[in-house]
Amino acid sequence: MSDVSKDDLKTGRLVVVTGASRGLGLSMAQTLAGDGFRVVALARRPSEALEAAQNAAGPGRIAFMAADLGEIDALQPLAQKIRAAHGPVYGLVNNAALGTPGLLTTMPASKIAELVHLNTLAPMVLTKYLARGMMTAGAGRIVNVSSIIAFTGYNALSVYAATKASMIGFTKSLAREVGRLGVTVNAVAPGFIETAMTGEMDEAERGRVANRSALKRLAEPQDVADAVAYLMSDRARNVTGTVLTIDAGSTA
Ligand SMILES: NC(=O)c1ccc[n+]([C@@H]2O[C@H](COP(=O)([O-])OP(=O)(O)OC[C@H]3O[C@@H](n4cnc5c(N)ncnc54)[C@H](OP(=O)(O)O)[C@@H]3O)[C@@H](O)[C@H]2O)c1
Repeated sequence: MSDVSKDDLKTGRLVVVTGASRGLGLSMAQTLAGDGFRVVALARRPSEALEAAQNAAGPGRIAFMAADLGEIDALQPLAQKIRAAHGPVYGLVNNAALGTPGLLTTMPASKIAELVHLNTLAPMVLTKYLARGMMTAGAGRIVNVSSIIAFTGYNALSVYAATKASMIGFTKSLAREVGRLGVTVNAVAPGFIETAMTGEMDEAERGRVANRSALKRLAEPQDVADAVAYLMSDRARNVTGTVLTIDAGSTA
């Protein structure tokens, strides 16, 4: 349990998690709701797993809002809609992303643009509109989901890697920009984790990744969710501009 105040537990500070219908985002939504936050879960479509999490968390803890984050012009109205329906936003987790693999030389320019659009442009613009309220309130938390691929590289993931590296530069500079107004900005860099995004990786490759890690295993969605919950909590009030790696020691 993060050390939110008694008032927060009654009403719950509001955190927006993008891409929360499955995978890491779903785990983050569940964990943050368990820590006393109210969560707005964004994705294009709801999922059975998210509905189960909403029921388990109890009334008003996790609200779903359908949104295609690739529609950049719709992000300002989306930010307004979230505030109108749920009140001021305390935290934002920029988690939604595409993991499309492809060799650069054969990748259609439209696929390259799609990755940059959803993984880099959309989180920056959504942050722009949601950070304003945090700055006015003098408190807030932004967590950007990067990847260890941003600093290790991986065959056929050059465009994805570039978008994930962009989240680190964004995190560090924005932390300097909004810090004086009480807003922290951090990133998490997960290693390989089994989700729909990595579903195409076969058993043998998974085994090789686990074997290369210091702990001889893969990190799990809950590990990343716990890191996000820490960065969202009052315990991390003096932590900003950092990148927290969660990879079972793959990059150790
Ligand atoms: N899994 C890993 O090994 C790994 C490792 C390092 C970093 N990461 C990062 O962790 C984050 C989550 O990855 P994941 O593995 O959990 O992915 P995932 O299972 O594919 O889930 C992606 C989520 O994003 C949503 N989404 C996709 N396109 C969207 C759009 N246009 N608008 C709104 N929502 C959209 C999806 O819902 P809809 O399709 O319904 O919209 C879904 O909820 C990503 O930033 C990824 O780069 C993952």
